Amino acid sequence: MKRGRPRQIALFAAIGSIAIAACGDGGASEENDAAVPDAAIPADAGATPDSPAADAGSDAGVDTGPVCTDLDGGTPIPLETDPVFVKGPYLMYTSQTSVVVMWETPEAAGSTVEYGPTEALGSSVAGTEKGPEAGDEGTVHELSVTGLLPGAEYFYRAGDATAWSAVHRFRTAAPQATPFRFAALADTQSHPEVHSRLIPLIAAWGPSFVVHAGDEIGDGSSAAGWQTEFFDVIRPLAHRIPYFVAVGNHEKDHDLFYRFVSYPTEQESYYTFTWGDVFFVAIDSNKYIFGTLDPQHAWIDEQLKTPEAKAAKWRVAAFHEPAYSESWGGCTFEGNPAIRSALIPLLEQSGINLIINGHTHEYERGYLNGVYHVITGGGGGGLETDWCTDWPHITVQKPVHHFLAVEAGCEALTVRAIDIDGIEFDFFEIPAQGQKDPKD
Ligand SMILES: [Fe+2]
Repeated sequence: MKRGRPRQIALFAAIGSIAIAACGDGGASEENDAAVPDAAIPADAGATPDSPAADAGSDAGVDTGPVCTDLDGGTPIPLETDPVFVKGPYLMYTSQTSVVVMWETPEAAGSTVEYGPTEALGSSVAGTEKGPEAGDEGTVHELSVTGLLPGAEYFYRAGDATAWSAVHRFRTAAPQATPFRFAALADTQSHPEVHSRLIPLIAAWGPSFVVHAGDEIGDGSSAAGWQTEFFDVIRPLAHRIPYFVAVGNHEKDHDLFYRFVSYPTEQESYYTFTWGDVFFVAIDSNKYIFGTLDPQHAWIDEQLKTPEAKAAKWRVAAFHEPAYSESWGGCTFEGNPAIRSALIPLLEQSGINLIINGHTHEYERGYLNGVYHVITGGGGGGLETDWCTDWPHITVQKPVHHFLAVEAGCEALTVRAIDIDGIEFDFFEIPAQGQKDPKD
């Protein structure tokens, strides 16, 4: 696809409703969040855009399955900057019944999360902290809150008797037949001034979570870089919604990456999660390039054959280096050949619908062998200036800072590319599964 072909489609309408609020009010009076319940929303309430739809069954005694109702717009996320801790509290791996809360204190301190369906909280879980290591002088706290209701909203605070965060909220993963939104971006790297401009746009979209496809920061071995380029920037969003990140080459597979993330696999750089009708797999593309295929390759194969993966309407893979790329400064990269030869055939035969990549600092979109390939490498890094390779299947290409605004509806997964001025410049839809049956 030659440069300049994408056309501007429509204004991104939600920007005007962004609320940027100072924290400390416990979140209860945010006027933008009219759907806040007095108690956690049970799985069958179906009352809010991100809450589960009613589990209908049938009045004739025939189980017709859960009823799906499309979203009617999104609920913008109020940006709350809570400065109590060095990092966070921020949300990591989230399932229908659990959430991981993390934060960092400058000194050793107790680890407690208090939570509940109202601001009164009422429940708590305590844990142990990770002391200073790997060049990071702080103490990292990581607690898993379990036994929660699907698609339900909770209030929480983190800390101990000497210092508590403000009261924030989280929502557990939506069950099946529950439309939701998410955002995706990559390559925020060493440009917090760009990344921070994308945060309110993402908040306005009203996502349930953020997928980051790698190169979170410029130098993964720098604790200061993690602080100023990533955690200081995502702070207001990450109090409220989880981040599902993939590891990029700039993370250098450094211990700090593993110190700051929490995903439920032994090797936390690859994992799966399910939200509503979408099955996600985060893949460590570095291992295809610098290491051996297994055990990750065999693990991906297994994961995409699970009942959860097969039941999903859409299957999405996120990893850093793309198989195909048209633009790269100096024209020394046209996509990664190891990814093309080893990983893509597996994803194609496993019924993956959408691949989200970064690495090349621009937007590219292609469709090949039943799979959409999107490069969303416009999170902050210097934009590409060369156009090098004409992959026939890549039909949209634009060197612009941007993020992906994705909505999983009842019948279609819609993907919008939104530039840093809030302008939508690409849109496509992926019909619900049924058209692909992953091979056993
Ligand atoms: Fe990269």
